[in-house]
Amino acid sequence: MKRLVHKHPLAIRWFHWVNFPILGLMIWSGLLIYWAYAPYKIQIGDVLLFKFFPAWFYQGLNVPRRLAEGMAWHFALMWLFTLNGVLYVGYTLISGQWRLLVPDRHSFKNAWLVTLHDLGLRKTAPPQRKYNDAQRIAYSAIILMGIGSVLTGLAIYKPTQFAGLTTLLGGYEAARLEHFILTIGYVLFFLVHVGQVVRAGWNNFRGIVTGFEVKQEPENEVDEVPQKTIQQP
Ligand code: HEM
Repeated sequence: MKRLVHKHPLAIRWFHWVNFPILGLMIWSGLLIYWAYAPYKIQIGDVLLFKFFPAWFYQGLNVPRRLAEGMAWHFALMWLFTLNGVLYVGYTLISGQWRLLVPDRHSFKNAWLVTLHDLGLRKTAPPQRKYNDAQRIAYSAIILMGIGSVLTGLAIYKPTQFAGLTTLLGGYEAARLEHFILTIGYVLFFLVHVGQVVRAGWNNFRGIVTGFEVKQEPENEVDEVPQKTIQQP
């Protein structure tokens, strides 16, 4: 028998879906700013492996010569990004949702087992609560990355006013590189995250939109606890 199980509180769903376009626009406006001085590349000795970013990439996205526009968007949206992040972290702390998110001392071992399972190299996955351990590590890391982006962003936005912070982060150049690396991290997270969502299927995706997942229960268990048609977390 199938039953509806409550999975994601309304607040979490709002914070999640508000964050998505804001972060997307922050990355886009960040790219408009980065274009004006684009020094980063991956190079081994004299061999250039990759330049952030090739000319065709900038041309294709219509990035060139939009520095002022990029800065205006970036510095306006940073307030919303920060506010949404603070409210999200505050909510998870007050509601106790953080317990389902933050990894524990078994998480790193279990995350490895989850990865082997996802790669088809292990038959069973370790038991999980709301999220598996790989998710707990990834979701907690992304929150820390968000805090890192705000701090490194402030350090390069107002290096004189936040001189102490800029120094703590290794100076202006280092803070700018850290800010950039965190952004690349979001893009990589996003690709894996969406890939995993597609893999997990419609029911899982519907959960983060509607809050509920459909669960298939063995007949006898449902007979024993018929009152649990809708279960709160
Ligand atoms: C097309 C874009 C996205 C889709 C389809 C998507 C989908 C999902 C789904 C289905 C879940 C629930 C996973 C589960 O129940 O097992 C989830 C949770 C989560 N996603 Fe996304 N997501 C997207 C973008 C993002 C972005 C851009 C970020 C942050 C950079 C993000 C961060 C998170 C976090 C932190 C959670 C856990 C939320 C919590 O319970 O507190 N997602 N996402």
